[in-house]
Amino acid sequence: MSKRSARESGRATPADERRERIEQHLSRLGLDGLDVDAHLAWAREHHPSDVEVVERLLAQAVAIRRERSIEWRIRGSGLKVRKSMAAFDWPFQPKLDRRAVEDLFTLSFLDRREDVLVTGKSGTGKSHILQALALKTCEREIMVRYARCVDLVDDLSAGLADGSYERRMRRWCRPSLLVIDDVGLGQLKRRDEEATAAHLLFTLLDRRHMNVSTALTSNIKLSAWGKYLGDATLAAAVLDRLAATSIHIDIDGPSYRQFLARKRAEEHGQQPPAELESDEP
Ligand SMILES: Nc1ncnc2c1ncn2[C@@H]1O[C@H](COP(=O)(O)OP(=O)(O)O)[C@@H](O)[C@H]1O
Ligand SMILES: [Mg+2]
Repeated sequence: MSKRSARESGRATPADERRERIEQHLSRLGLDGLDVDAHLAWAREHHPSDVEVVERLLAQAVAIRRERSIEWRIRGSGLKVRKSMAAFDWPFQPKLDRRAVEDLFTLSFLDRREDVLVTGKSGTGKSHILQALALKTCEREIMVRYARCVDLVDDLSAGLADGSYERRMRRWCRPSLLVIDDVGLGQLKRRDEEATAAHLLFTLLDRRHMNVSTALTSNIKLSAWGKYLGDATLAAAVLDRLAATSIHIDIDGPSYRQFLARKRAEEHGQQPPAELESDEP
């Protein structure tokens, strides 16, 4: 529809005024993207029944609202990249249990309130899988949040410092799926008088447990969680909670990151990097 108001131009016919009102209705309904002209052109060409016309218009309106809701969810989820399993090279990781991974993407574990733990060395695709899973969850219009473990612990620690801990904790407890990526990566900052990361993580998982699902990735052995999280007993309790209800997927295979680095080096005629085991995602 014409952007310039027919009334402003001083030549408004009743038809112009009706169109202007339609534009206002669409705007108030948050349906600015709805192409009424294209819809009318389709109706003129195909001669559908009245009910068909209404049904098609409503279907387009719903599609626009749904797309917007998904985009809003993705933006609010904390995901910084949009990964999909369509881009996942399965043959590269032959020992990975493909059925178990694909089963995650039915999202039935969310109904069962199960947790997910993905372990494996750096670069094996752990984050890729859970980022794709978070995206899929957004597409189903289910509330999801994604954070790296260090950022989540930092956020809760900041809450302890400024009195907003309970509010922040509730925010992390709310989503139907919380992805905690990279347990074991990055330095967990902590002052002596503060609660350990193990304590914060235990409280969070304890509150979410059996209520909503949490999915974690880790590149360190489960036996090393105590040292990393700063409290062996609580870290063991975290793992106990997870063991009780979690789907464990271990990726025992090569690093795709190293594969990409080697390929890039070859393409540029350079020496491939020696055991490049960068732990940064
Ligand atoms: N099997 C795979 N097929 C395609 N891309 C992959 C595969 N595994 C990993 N990647 C890509 O390699 C990079 C490193 O993977 P990532 O998931 O971050 O590893 P991890 O979290 O296990 O350290 C990412 O860009 C990811 O998309
Ligand atoms: Mg990772």
